[in-house]
Amino acid sequence: MINYTEKIPNNVDLGRDRVLQRALEHWQPAFLGWWYDMGPNESRNYDVYLRTAVSVEPDGWAQFDYVKMPEYRWGIFLQPRDEQRQVNFGTNKGQAAWQDVPGEYRSTLRRIIVTQGDTEPASVEQQKMLGLSCPSLYDLRNIFQVNVEEGRHLWAMVYLLHRYFGRDGREEAEALLARRSGDTDNPRILGAFNEPTPDWLAFYMFTFFTDRDGKFQLCALAESGFDPLSRTCRFMLTEEAHHMFVGETGVSRIIQRTCEVMKENKVEDPSAVRALGVIDLQTIQRYLNFHYSVTLDLYGSDVSSNAANYFTSGLKGRFEETKINDDHTLSEAEYPVSEVIGEKIVTKKVPALTALNERLRDDYIREIESGVSRWQRVIDRAGIPFRLTLPHKGFHRAIGNFAGHFISLDGQVLTEEAWKNHEFEWLPSPKDHAFVQSLMSGRVADPGKFANWIAPPVRGINNQPLNFEYVRFN
Ligand SMILES: [Fe+2]
Ligand SMILES: [Fe+2]
Repeated sequence: MINYTEKIPNNVDLGRDRVLQRALEHWQPAFLGWWYDMGPNESRNYDVYLRTAVSVEPDGWAQFDYVKMPEYRWGIFLQPRDEQRQVNFGTNKGQAAWQDVPGEYRSTLRRIIVTQGDTEPASVEQQKMLGLSCPSLYDLRNIFQVNVEEGRHLWAMVYLLHRYFGRDGREEAEALLARRSGDTDNPRILGAFNEPTPDWLAFYMFTFFTDRDGKFQLCALAESGFDPLSRTCRFMLTEEAHHMFVGETGVSRIIQRTCEVMKENKVEDPSAVRALGVIDLQTIQRYLNFHYSVTLDLYGSDVSSNAANYFTSGLKGRFEETKINDDHTLSEAEYPVSEVIGEKIVTKKVPALTALNERLRDDYIREIESGVSRWQRVIDRAGIPFRLTLPHKGFHRAIGNFAGHFISLDGQVLTEEAWKNHEFEWLPSPKDHAFVQSLMSGRVADPGKFANWIAPPVRGINNQPLNFEYVRFN
């Protein structure tokens, strides 16, 4: 168990490294300053029924209780060390896993950690205002849970920066608190983390699509030859599962409610559906198209020498690297990538080493496909003839081989003009956003009550009933 009398709960024996402890104790008030400034709006005095990580034991790692969020114990937890662990891929394959940063990879590794760390506070910033329009106390508690855990993920990355990267690391840790999502002068590093999350449908889509990118990035980093990074990411993945659950069930409950209302009132036309105060399936599809396409960009260029370099050096592996049955050096292998030539999308084979971003994106897409088919089952069970579809991989892309091209939902190469003619059939329009936000103008805060546009969940959190007081406003 973690000693909660320490300022920073941890299982990394922080108390024995005074320099590190002081650096983190110095960073902690700056972090709290950021939380007060950019964390959930007006939430300072709420008592929230939150889980807190208290150990890394699989059967007892979390404890649930009411917590004021600024008093949340953002701890530092690494999965226990495996003394036998090796670098499992790349040219250093077979070496003992590194317990310190190899000098030649120092700046690359720092860049990888900073890029991951930057996404964590970014999503908190993006979701800052949503508590004011929550559909229930259950959902309010869930967004706060996601927010405090993204805060803990920031702590996890800052620990690595402070512990292993000296002064450079401390400067990067400060910069992580200085960038702001969507800021024109000092934005967050990755595009999707500068997009607004203006409403709860966007929040659930974000946690389904973009937190799942987080999962795949963490899985790739969990394979790292740099053991402290691997162990940190393994523990973060435990928490990430709940974020994706919030997203998947959130969208599913919205779909369910829409379908119920459509059946009860025998309506199908989107404007008739909207008039009944629920979100039409066409709008849900457009949100899906948006969040899917901006998240695909997070994987980076289809062909990337950086990705090859990360792999060859043993810093970032493939999804489930050690379960893959090949040489783990990719010296001969090839992998298919797409590109636009004239008016056609063609697939060609390139060295697999250079296509690792594309491969991780494809692994991600497979998981997304099964999630979307679970949403589809909700519609099918209601007997409504509507199909949710995933856009073509090239649709609405700003990074990689499709950037600068105008690809339709079904993968046709269009002119800019032709594409623009369909833009708001395919992506949410300002009117769609205004409609969705009109449903979410205030907070539903009576225990057990849910907004009209979303179905209640199947069960509560930690076996509590649905009418449990998940948040007390005081
Ligand atoms: Fe995270
Ligand atoms: Fe997350």
